[in-house]
Amino acid sequence: MTPAPRPTAAEREELPEGRARVPRHVAIIMDGNGRWATARGQPRQAGHKAGIAPVRASIEHCARSGVEALTLFAFSSENWRRPQEEVTNLMSLFLEALDREVAELHANRVRLRFIGDRRSLSVRLQARMAAAEELTAANDGLKLQIAVSYGGRWDIVQACQELAKQCSAGTLRPEEIDEARVAGALQLAGLPDPDLFIRTGGEQRISNFLLWNLAYSELYFTDTLWPDFNADELQAAFEHFARRERRFGLTGAQVGGAVRA
Ligand code: FPP
Repeated sequence: MTPAPRPTAAEREELPEGRARVPRHVAIIMDGNGRWATARGQPRQAGHKAGIAPVRASIEHCARSGVEALTLFAFSSENWRRPQEEVTNLMSLFLEALDREVAELHANRVRLRFIGDRRSLSVRLQARMAAAEELTAANDGLKLQIAVSYGGRWDIVQACQELAKQCSAGTLRPEEIDEARVAGALQLAGLPDPDLFIRTGGEQRISNFLLWNLAYSELYFTDTLWPDFNADELQAAFEHFARRERRFGLTGAQVGGAVRA
């Protein structure tokens, strides 16, 4: 990853007419690895391996463009039901990728966090994830979240459990529970909601990704299979986003273009 100057928040706001406004937070479902491999007569694992290059390219492009946060869906709660061999291979790939990439992410000031139910992961992977988070915790660059063993419904349930615990401990009254408290107990607490959601691989579904946080996100679907995704494709999604008018429940006249992405 080549270090690149990042536009400041103020510079981002002042982009000249015609230049794409950059989303603050981008969330991606990286779909299509299996089909990419099958089309080449290769095992599915080859598609997952080929999926590493677009992960790097997306991180680099987001960091260069001044995106504040990038959240990638690497493995869902439902993916545990895939054939055991594929699950084992994916877990090894995550471990190898972590070992190989973390130093460079750190050198580029990326803050890395994992979201999802870690208890189902191997102790070794949990330890590497915790070490990577600790190493990069103070970094002031791109906030990179990798969702592993993550499900949007699981996230909401764990937030409810957390708030219920506070109620039973007497530190929170049920009537004090509002949207901000729920958001604060979710895995992406402290980050802005994704402005732009991208799914590759042709399916037009959210597939139990960030169910709460995607409430107002602009949705962008592409037929490109994840291993073929690259910085140009990501830039095309940013440009699509820049043309969208985000109304957040108001009328077009009320927003008057003021919240055009
Ligand atoms: C979905 O494609 C992809 C996955 C379940 C795995 C995603 C993993 C990577 C992109 C590897 C690298 C990631 C990191 C963060 C190091 P699919 O298998 O469902 O494809 P299909 O729909 O064509 O079967």
